[in-house]
Amino acid sequence: MWASIGVSVRLRIALLWALAGVLASGCGGGGGGGGGGGGSSSSAATGTGGAAALASAPVTTAGVTLDPTLTPLENLGKFIMTDANLSEPAGTPCVACHQPGHGFADNNGSAIGVALGSQAGSLGLRNALANAYSSQSPAFGFTTQNGRTTARGGQFWDGRVDTLAEQALLPLLNPIEMNNASAQAVINKIAAAPYASLFLQQFGTSALSTPTTAFTQVGLAVQAFEQSAQLQAFTSKFDAVLQGQASFTAVEQQGLSLFTDRTRANCASCHSVNPNSSNPANSLFTDFTYRNTGIPRNQAIAQNAVATFFDLGLCGPQRTAPTLPATVPPGVTISDFCGQFKVPSLRNVSLRSNFMHNGFFTDLGQVVHFYSTRVSNPGLWYGPSGVPNDVPSQYLANVVTGTPPFVGHAGLPPLLTAQEEAAIVAFLNTLTDGFTP
Ligand code: HEC
Ligand code: HEC
Repeated sequence: MWASIGVSVRLRIALLWALAGVLASGCGGGGGGGGGGGGSSSSAATGTGGAAALASAPVTTAGVTLDPTLTPLENLGKFIMTDANLSEPAGTPCVACHQPGHGFADNNGSAIGVALGSQAGSLGLRNALANAYSSQSPAFGFTTQNGRTTARGGQFWDGRVDTLAEQALLPLLNPIEMNNASAQAVINKIAAAPYASLFLQQFGTSALSTPTTAFTQVGLAVQAFEQSAQLQAFTSKFDAVLQGQASFTAVEQQGLSLFTDRTRANCASCHSVNPNSSNPANSLFTDFTYRNTGIPRNQAIAQNAVATFFDLGLCGPQRTAPTLPATVPPGVTISDFCGQFKVPSLRNVSLRSNFMHNGFFTDLGQVVHFYSTRVSNPGLWYGPSGVPNDVPSQYLANVVTGTPPFVGHAGLPPLLTAQEEAAIVAFLNTLTDGFTP
């Protein structure tokens, strides 16, 4: 059982980085096929670099073949992220849960919406987040505007780390993810890997003999790769439209209008977009804030068999609740934030197979229908009581209500017609990188 999962993952990974070559703003690296030009102002430079890279053949440095569209440090990060030997047992590299062809997410073959680690049956609490576009997130913190305090930034569904370099080290040592015993164990594997000499070339000839420092350098290399254009390609149809290189169909345009309409779907109030800016970095489809949108309980998660167990996001159990700054208005307490999870970017979302922190939804149409009916038909999602069922009663007030799309009352028709819901899905389908105008 486990062996078959391992093999299929390795095959998929081989295919997926071929696809990543297509997603990158250049090509000529690991993947065949034509790349779309970089679109944004920030990737204008990489777009040019990509064009130059087209002419150059892959380079062999330090005994390994490098992707010429990436710097040597970014190449090192990519080798680390795709190295199936870096888990215990082998077979679960980072990309097993962050597959380019699955929206830079996926759960390593798990069928229940939360990630499966390297050991058979080791399931966590959370659905993998995409690691693409994550480098755009600011550090975690609280801001107060117009008397309202909001949590914002950080990595993970609960913002528990600030940088991609710190983040990268956690799955390597997490028993339910890559399950290495220690930093030393990881460094020993890297020292035996084909790209070991590239590591030494980047960090010095004795870099691998001091495991603590070397482990930090692993994080720096992975971060460099995650900041590269391959993980923020900005090459979707949406980006092409912003650049005047393509146009939406009537239905996609209708979906965008609903998405941004403050009186209707109002998705853009959390999933920020600026259709009037030709810089796609102004449309990340997240404002990096935290909200409790009342996601239904995923009964397939083992911990959820205990009725009193709740994943409260910002209030744990995967983190200790953050400390509020002294400047928050009187009366604001950390319990106001319990049950909140990060607003994820919707770029490449239609390639994902599970949605939300607990992976409850398996279909994008179902997600949009949830937004359309959470208030008007709560029984559909929470059973006869109609009360959000994955939030303990003392935090029910934290569930967002009173602003679109969460307006109205039970018994009304859905907020959006079936045709309007389909139009939003059609628009979300334009957010997939790798579009050729
Ligand atoms: C077994 C599956 C699995 C593996 C292997 C894995 N991840 Fe993840 N990754 C996840 C899950 C699940 C989350 C969300 C966890 C949470 O929020 O608590 C996540 C979150 C992330 C995030 C946060 C993204 C954001 O926007 O907040 C980054 C970045 C990331 N992973 C990178 C990596 C790197 C780098 C590696 C390898 C060193 C790796 N992951 C290995 C499952 C995995
Ligand atoms: C009040 C803020 C808010 C609004 C408005 C909002 N969302 Fe979200 N969205 C979130 C949060 C927060 C999550 C993650 C919730 C969780 O996992 O607990 C999310 C998750 C999602 C996801 C899942 C993404 C993934 O990778 O798992 C999709 C798809 C989505 N939203 C689409 C929409 C659409 C379409 C609309 C408009 C109909 C919308 N959202 C309106 C805050 C919002």
